[in-house]
Amino acid sequence: MKTVGVLISGRGSNLQALIDAQRAGTLGGAIAVVVSNVDGVPGLARARAARIPALCCPQAGRTREDHDRALVAVLREHDVDLVCLAGYMRLLSPVFLEAFSGRILNVHPSLLPAFPGRDAQRQAWEHGVKVSGATVHFVEAALDSGPIVLQEAVPVLDGDTPESLEARILEAEHRVYSRAISLYFSGSLRIAGRRVLGATPAG
Ligand code: GRF
Repeated sequence: MKTVGVLISGRGSNLQALIDAQRAGTLGGAIAVVVSNVDGVPGLARARAARIPALCCPQAGRTREDHDRALVAVLREHDVDLVCLAGYMRLLSPVFLEAFSGRILNVHPSLLPAFPGRDAQRQAWEHGVKVSGATVHFVEAALDSGPIVLQEAVPVLDGDTPESLEARILEAEHRVYSRAISLYFSGSLRIAGRRVLGATPAG
C-alpha cells in the first residue's frame, strides 16, 4: 500500500477530503501520518478522529533547516511515499525538497500561475477575473511554481464576495486533490519539462 504524509497548519478541510477519499477507496493509498507546524489546530483533531497518527513538529527556536530535518525524520519513520501539503503555511527548505524530490504535491486556491502566494482567492476577486479555481502541482523551490498535475475551474459570479469565492474554490480543491494523488499512485503521470502528462484523457 502506498503511503501519504500530510503537512498542515490549520483547519484541515483538505486533509478531511483526503481522509474521506481514503475511506471511499479512491485515494489509491493510505495516510500514514499527519504533521502540523502549529499545535492544537483542528486538522490534528480530524486526523486523530480518523485514527491516523498526528503530531505537531514545532518550529519555535529552530532554523528552517533544523525544523525541516525533524519533519523529514518523522515522515521517514512512517515510510511515507508521497508528501501532500494541505494548507501548510510555511516554505520548505532545500533540505526537505531534496529529501522528497519529485514526491511533494500542493493544492493552491487559484488557477496557477495566476495569483500565487497568500490570499489567492481575494487576489482573484479584487482583480476581477471571471474564472478562478484550484490547482494541484508538484512542489519546487520557488513558491507555487512546480509542474501542474490537475486544475479545476470555478466561475466568479457578480454577487460573489471573497468569502463566497473562497468557499466555491475550496470545494474544487477537495475534489481535485484526491484525484491527483490517486493519479500519482497509479503511475500514469509523466513529467516532460514543465508539463505533467497522463493526468487528462489523451486528446
Ligand atoms: C486551502 O485553501 C489551501 O489551498 C490553502 O490554504 C487553505 C487550507 O485550508 N493553501 P484547509 O486547512 O485545508 O481547510
